[in-house]
Amino acid sequence: MSLLKPHRPPYRWSAAAWIAAIVIAPAAGAATPAELLAGYVGEAGGAPSPERGQSLFNSRHGRDWSCASCHGAVPTGPGRHAATGKPIAALAPAFNPERFTDAAKADKWFRRNCNDVVGRECTAAEKADVLSWLIKLKP
Ligand code: HEC
Repeated sequence: MSLLKPHRPPYRWSAAAWIAAIVIAPAAGAATPAELLAGYVGEAGGAPSPERGQSLFNSRHGRDWSCASCHGAVPTGPGRHAATGKPIAALAPAFNPERFTDAAKADKWFRRNCNDVVGRECTAAEKADVLSWLIKLKP
């Protein structure tokens, strides 16, 4: 740990701080599905409904696709992109440990997919409903 030697000039400390920030930053977004759910529930200000989440997920909302069109009606196994045919890994976290472990990723895809399917962004309450249903799906 030569950076910590007292005779080093002070700018070394700021370089070390930058490196720490870069190394630690990706972990800052890390979360568990339960933590993400708690965040949406807090924002929504009410208890989530897995039944409402399932219904949102499987409805077409007057448009071409439902969430199920790409993820499957019960997303415990691989889905397939409705337009490109590309496989999509299971969405339910009990079947895919990478799911809902990154708040930025979850929000990005909620935004994109709700816009495609519902024609607008999903509310925090809708995200809480969907995620509470997905968390309930167990092997
Ligand atoms: C046109 C295809 C398509 C539709 C329709 C679709 N998705 Fe997705 N979804 C994807 C793709 C592609 C990804 C990103 C690839 C991946 O993560 O496997 C994704 C990822 C996600 C993620 C990221 C989860 C995570 O943390 O990894 C969420 C949440 C999600 N979708 C929710 C929804 C919801 C809710 C709907 C309906 C409102 C929906 N999706 C409809 C294709 C779709």
